[in-house]
Amino acid sequence: MSATEQLSIRVEPTQQSRLSQVDFNNLVFGKIMSDHMLVAEYNDGEWIDVSILPYGDLTVNPSMSALHYGQAIFEGIKGYKFADGTVSIFRPEKNWERFNKSASRLQMPEVPEEIFLGGLKKLLDVDRNWVPSKEGTSLYIRPFMFATEAALGVHPSISYKFIIITCPVGAYYSKPISLKVETHYTRAAEGGVGFSKNAGNYALSLYPTKLANDEGYDQIMWTDANEHRYIEEAGTANLIFRIGDTIITPHGDTILHGVTRRTIMELAEKWGYKAEQRKVSVQELIDGIENGTVSEAFAAGTAATITHISRIGFEGRDYTLPPVEGREFSNKVLSYLNDLRYGKIEDPFGWNYIV
Ligand code: COI
Repeated sequence: MSATEQLSIRVEPTQQSRLSQVDFNNLVFGKIMSDHMLVAEYNDGEWIDVSILPYGDLTVNPSMSALHYGQAIFEGIKGYKFADGTVSIFRPEKNWERFNKSASRLQMPEVPEEIFLGGLKKLLDVDRNWVPSKEGTSLYIRPFMFATEAALGVHPSISYKFIIITCPVGAYYSKPISLKVETHYTRAAEGGVGFSKNAGNYALSLYPTKLANDEGYDQIMWTDANEHRYIEEAGTANLIFRIGDTIITPHGDTILHGVTRRTIMELAEKWGYKAEQRKVSVQELIDGIENGTVSEAFAAGTAATITHISRIGFEGRDYTLPPVEGREFSNKVLSYLNDLRYGKIEDPFGWNYIV
């Protein structure tokens, strides 16, 4: 990192801002990118250049190893604007930590704090007018890294690009979602890369998700690779349930350790709920829905925020969750986190990282 400490972040401002073309009242997730992006280059053991550039196309070599062998990882973070104009990022240091865990597993270099968090802060400062302020909107932040060495031998790339792009967004899911329990296809096995946020984990979800969509479900609920008995996560977010008075989320290294999931479990504990990270079998969930002990089920993620689950399909039968209005815990968390992220209440945990 010593070389990085001397690296300054060069800013090349855009000559043609696209900000005035954006309809902030109709934001679609992930379609319109902000004016600038951060681009850092790594070569042969060191970070050699970090710049903030106008958002635009990249030139890639066709033999670039990310395209062939999949060394590609990413994160999802959100930035918010307070009523007084303050721009704040939600717990980005947790994403930085997870990013570097993903990097290590895929034999990619770690990104130093100065580049990941320092670069993020500077990028949001440059594009602060892109952070929307209306409740329910935010600036979605997508840091990612991929291998750029032009070589077809299977080995860790010698060079990488780390990039951060951002986009103003509305809700990823605008209503409660239905999930189909996946009992054939597998997302991750023990010893695999389930905990890492790598591009391949999403590529492999597309086909089973399409099959679930064809059957009328919004998403899939992954189960364990060995027996398809235990719940893991949904295609785009972690899962949390309320069974009796306990808030429960599946755990283990085959699932993504989400920052939103972690935040919610921390809040549950703080508020005096019993909070457990443990195996949850599909049967336990289904029995609980049938006998009324499962009162809440939701997806939790940066993009998904908290998305209520309305219906779960398992082995050809549908199980309907109780009405959303009566879901005491998830509604309380949702409104608390909104208030905290938009700076309406005090931040006792230091979760808001002010730009
Ligand atoms: C996120 O929640 O930020 C994610 O990366 C999920 C993605 C599938 C939109």
